Amino acid sequence: ENKPIPFEAIGEGMLHQLVDAFYIRVAQHPDLAPIFPDDLSETARKQKQFLTQYLGGPSLYTQEHGHPMLRARHLNFEITPTRAKAWLACMHEAMDEVGFSGALREDFYARLIFTAQHMINTPDQDE
Ligand code: HEM
Repeated sequence: ENKPIPFEAIGEGMLHQLVDAFYIRVAQHPDLAPIFPDDLSETARKQKQFLTQYLGGPSLYTQEHGHPMLRARHLNFEITPTRAKAWLACMHEAMDEVGFSGALREDFYARLIFTAQHMINTPDQDE
């Protein structure tokens, strides 16, 4: 059986809708908005490129920006456990909004939990 790569199974259209729905939430989230730029269009464009390759599609992010080095690229920002939870909550809601469901969603979300935890570089204030 030929199993399509997740990027193909999800489809570019759904992935782009997901990222757009995600950043609308990020912009409104009190824990996240302060560390993101006001204009999220370039951030969203990079995230579409990144998630395309994260899901096994063409290496769009690396072609334009080089190796992701994702944790290093996040070191300029205080990524706390609270912010990681908020990031994941925005993604969970965005998945619901665009109607992304099933095993593919569960696998993708589980990977994002792992990656988000890896980005944490700062403890919460009261810890
Ligand atoms: C960039 C926050 C997790 C992928 C950024 C930026 C911030 C941020 C503030 C800079 C935005 C900009 O200046 O354009 C966070 C927080 C996270 C998190 C609070 C919580 C854990 C993740 C995860 C992924 C990811 C899990 C991937 C699955 C990216 C990418 C960029 C980015 C691809 C663009 C990097 C670049 O500038 O080339 N993130 N992030 N982030 N983030 Fe995250």
